[in-house]
Amino acid sequence: MKTQLDEDRIRQAAQAFGLGTEIKLRRYGSGHINDTFLAETGKPEDGAFILQRINQEVFQNPEALMNNIRGVTEYLKAAVEKEGGDPGREVLNLIPDREGNSCLRDRHGDCWRMYRFVQDSFCRDLARSPEELYECGRAFGHFQRLLAGYPADQLAETIPDFHNTPKRLRDLEAAARADGCGRFAGVQEELGFFMERSGRLGLALSMQQRGEIPLRVTHNDTKLNNVLLDRKTGRALCVVDLDTVMPGLSLYDFGDAIRTGASTALEDERDLERVSLSLPFYTAFTKGFLEECAASLTEAEIRMLPYGAWLMTMECGIRFLTDYLSGDTYFHISRREHNLDRCRTQIRLAADMERQMEQMEAIAAETAGRVREKNPG
Ligand SMILES: Nc1ncnc2c1ncn2[C@@H]1O[C@H](COP(=O)(O)OP(=O)(O)O)[C@@H](O)[C@H]1O
Ligand SMILES: [Mg+2]
Repeated sequence: MKTQLDEDRIRQAAQAFGLGTEIKLRRYGSGHINDTFLAETGKPEDGAFILQRINQEVFQNPEALMNNIRGVTEYLKAAVEKEGGDPGREVLNLIPDREGNSCLRDRHGDCWRMYRFVQDSFCRDLARSPEELYECGRAFGHFQRLLAGYPADQLAETIPDFHNTPKRLRDLEAAARADGCGRFAGVQEELGFFMERSGRLGLALSMQQRGEIPLRVTHNDTKLNNVLLDRKTGRALCVVDLDTVMPGLSLYDFGDAIRTGASTALEDERDLERVSLSLPFYTAFTKGFLEECAASLTEAEIRMLPYGAWLMTMECGIRFLTDYLSGDTYFHISRREHNLDRCRTQIRLAADMERQMEQMEAIAAETAGRVREKNPG
């Protein structure tokens, strides 16, 4: 259970990171996972700070998570500096607490961390145009490229088996067998959709095990609202929300960004006629992503990107259905069949991707080819 937060507790946490008693605090952003606050000292020369309480229901080992974040942000800072960028704005800057730790444990057992606030930036929950998704693609492609040399196997797997899709399917089968809520009979069509495709869910993992695609540093939450855009130029500035940084596959990050950013409807849309994959949005993200990282990905990785979009959509659908069958214990719901509705949008989207897969593959291959021609080596 989450402990109750009050102004005093938030203030004490801020002070443990070295902020004075005179700060102004307010809730900030539209993230669903952590409790995020903006802290301002009132002196413009200090800038401002993002103070976050880490959600320990989701992240059971905050210290390991903060080690991952520290390793990756330090590496990114050096890489951005080398390329002549601005490490103060293009990378999250962790502020250590007074004892030099990046993770503060308070007396209630809660974990806190602080970042420098990136000034003159903004975030979008939904892309208003393909250009915004292009910027999102650039941000995550840049992230992938700068971290290509990072030893991914040194990162802790903070959520084990996060993208082990065959295991996710086994969990679904177990939930169906247990049928704890008497919902099994009502989801035959949905279950059938996933089971018919079970043979294709382990492809990426087995390629990785055979050494055909490499382990990478992955972000694992590649949504548009985890990219800060520059207020003046509208261009991608900084990737945030590094809690799920883990070893993984490049197709996971690409795939989840397409699943969330290139769908024509919200994840819980009830009118399934509205759900499809937007090729203009897909194309825009792919272009931004590959312009940044085509040169640092292998041929096999690039070939697998469109499959990644399908896989992430399938996996998410499987997770929604599992949660529906198990009594809605993981995803927050605000109506009875919320998780079933979500599962159905994912099925619709995955089916639409199957229809458009040839085009998706051609777009990725053409884009990568064009980028590589321009910048050989
Ligand atoms: N360093 C930062 N500078 C400016 N805004 C930030 C910073 N870190 C986070 N934000 C804003 O706060 C929001 C929530 O933070 P995030 O780390 O994504 O939390 P959650 O895990 O809850 O999604 C982000 O979407 C972004 O708008
Ligand atoms: Mg977020």
